[in-house]
Amino acid sequence: PSRAEKICCLGAGYVGGPTMCVIAKKCPECKVTVADPFADKIAQWHDPDHLPIFEPGLAELVRETIGKNLFFTTDLEAAIQEADIIFVAVGTPTKTVGIGSGHAANLCYLESAARMIARVATTPKIIVEKSTVPVRNAETLMRIFTTNPESARLFQVVNNPEFLAEGTAIPDLLRPDRVLIGGQTTPAGHEAVRRLADVYAHWVPRERIITTNLWSSECSKLVANAFLAQRISSINSISELCEATGADVDEVARAIGMDSRIGAKFLKTSVGFGGSCFQKDILNLVYLASSLGLQQVADYWEQVITINQHQKARFTERIVHSMFHTIAGKKIAILGFAFKKDTGDTRETPALDIMYKLLEEGANMAVYDPKVPDELLWDDLTHGPSLAPKNARPLPLRERITHVTDPYQAMEGAHAIIICTEWDEFKTYDYQRIYNGMVKPAFIFDGRNLLDHQRLFDMGFEVHSLGRRPLTHFPQGL
Ligand code: UDX
Repeated sequence: PSRAEKICCLGAGYVGGPTMCVIAKKCPECKVTVADPFADKIAQWHDPDHLPIFEPGLAELVRETIGKNLFFTTDLEAAIQEADIIFVAVGTPTKTVGIGSGHAANLCYLESAARMIARVATTPKIIVEKSTVPVRNAETLMRIFTTNPESARLFQVVNNPEFLAEGTAIPDLLRPDRVLIGGQTTPAGHEAVRRLADVYAHWVPRERIITTNLWSSECSKLVANAFLAQRISSINSISELCEATGADVDEVARAIGMDSRIGAKFLKTSVGFGGSCFQKDILNLVYLASSLGLQQVADYWEQVITINQHQKARFTERIVHSMFHTIAGKKIAILGFAFKKDTGDTRETPALDIMYKLLEEGANMAVYDPKVPDELLWDDLTHGPSLAPKNARPLPLRERITHVTDPYQAMEGAHAIIICTEWDEFKTYDYQRIYNGMVKPAFIFDGRNLLDHQRLFDMGFEVHSLGRRPLTHFPQGL
């Protein structure tokens, strides 16, 4: 029987929250406390009907475990004091000012968490780096801990990257492809790794729990995300080639994906990848490589971002060109604002880049997304896309954009529909009714190749998709 560890997690976000819920559920003898300084967020975690994040299956887990062996608190110090194992799952967003701005990770939250642990802890702790960190970050943590030699021997740092994807966090956590734990190659390091492995072994088969040295594990997280994102940029670059040749990108993806060396997953063309991880981790990798003087390596990975920016830009240009080179004053329906389906998260969403470009062209837009909250949409619109140059003049957001809760209202009287997110419900709408209510010619730009294009074309729509020729009723080649 394994020990009844007292576990705490600093940071009640997308990673900390779901991970701790699953640990609490699977390790009933462990006490799990999630601590976050934001009182509002902690209050929301106490209400399973209004959790601060939307994730299928999460509310049920919270209901089952909260108050039993899962606790949420704003008292970080008490949580640290009590814990044997401390997960650090605070945010590490890309820096927006100063050295490494636009590439390097902002480590201020991580450093203050480490300093608080060093100040407060009086008993031995295993510190688990859960946040995505630059390679050799564990060293920084260890240095903070060793500034006080008295307390230094209390701490062991291990790295345990999170591979869950949003929207499928709970199944990903329950049935991970692998759990990776990196630790120091000393007896105390091995012992710390073993104790964390024992926690996961409550539900993950032992052969799926792999252990490495600290630096390999930190590096693997960046590399895993860089490889995944690279596949999307690769297929997206081919989508442009397909449009120019008459090949169909989804057919190409299927054909190459059946080669088991390539594999079928992550080959779905899109208007560009979004999310909090891919861009950030690649920028981090690029920063690391270039600060080590490895310029070719840095340039190679930077191209993954370049293609992603290009994909968003060329999709938007196609919208403007096909709609007779002007969209000023036209109503455009934006379906989906989240960076992917089944989440209300909008970080780095391609929809924002698209809307900004359309706004610059003078379009009016009605946005519908089944899960994105109103405040978040306006906050994103106010700040604009992260890699775009900041506008000197404020854009007329509120005059031109409306956020609607009924998709049919978004499309009524519109010149065009733009699919930005692959929500399943978009496939179920009554498109004949929608067509009848639109200005003609009625355009659909499907940025996810989600809908049945032939059917829509037969109804009378002009259909533009990615990686294949448009379906148009206009005579070609005049
Ligand atoms: C990702 C990784 O998958 C996960 O392992 C890591 O821990 C965090 O980053 P996430 O960002 O939640 O997870 O979502 P993911 O499903 O990977 O999608 C990222 C983006 O790529 C989305 O915008 C998605 O729409 C896009 N995508 C994904 C494609 O465009 N095509 C694909 O084939 C797959």
